[in-house]
Amino acid sequence: AAPAAVIVAIDGPSGTGKSSTSKAVAAQLGLSYLDTGAQYRAITWWMVNNGIDLTDPTAIAAVAGKAEILSGTDPAAPTITVDGTDVAGPIRTGEVTSKVSAVSAVPEVRARITELQRSIAASAAADGVGMVVEGRDIGTTVLPDADLKIFLTASPEARAARRSGELKGADVKATQEALIKRDAADSSRKTSPLAKAGDAVEVDTTDLTLQQVIECVVTLVEEKRTSK
Ligand code: DC
Repeated sequence: AAPAAVIVAIDGPSGTGKSSTSKAVAAQLGLSYLDTGAQYRAITWWMVNNGIDLTDPTAIAAVAGKAEILSGTDPAAPTITVDGTDVAGPIRTGEVTSKVSAVSAVPEVRARITELQRSIAASAAADGVGMVVEGRDIGTTVLPDADLKIFLTASPEARAARRSGELKGADVKATQEALIKRDAADSSRKTSPLAKAGDAVEVDTTDLTLQQVIECVVTLVEEKRTSK
């Protein structure tokens, strides 16, 4: 028989290897992949582009439903568009990165994006494909019934070093400070903060290579698939 369609939630702060791990696991196991951070970045990009005052949660809430966000879920080539425009590049700029926490803290934004995420995951389950969904609140809020929940952690030093590597030449200390600030904002917001679900498996990646983290998660998913 074909393996059962599993829904896997992978949460954790930035710099834990979450995106690289999620994509690789999905590709290896033939699952679809959803980057929920990209969706929050996309709505933030739209708000910046439309001159919305991001210091005003009421102004953010008022336009929370305006942008049409589409996510392509092939782990080998994930895509993200806003009103038909490819925004894969623009959503990774420093400006969007520094503003995404403020936008994603607004309950109307979360409600809207959460609904989108649930419908995407439901189609993947219905199609029999299964999906890896990565984010901050997937196991706790978006998909509390996910078949498997993973929570990735790493020391702040390891996370900053990995991010600085990605940014090429960026000052490690400045990166560490920005990252700690963003994680603190994401963890302390009122609506579905970054948190480990009670039934999530925690994997500390500080002393693991990316390949080791991928192998660990692949094993956990395979165990889940056989027992499902
Ligand atoms: O994973 P990332 O760095 O691309 O995520 C960008 C931001 O989006 C992150 O700082 C917090 C927000 N986010 C969220 O609030 N909930 C999610 N499920 C995913 C991301």
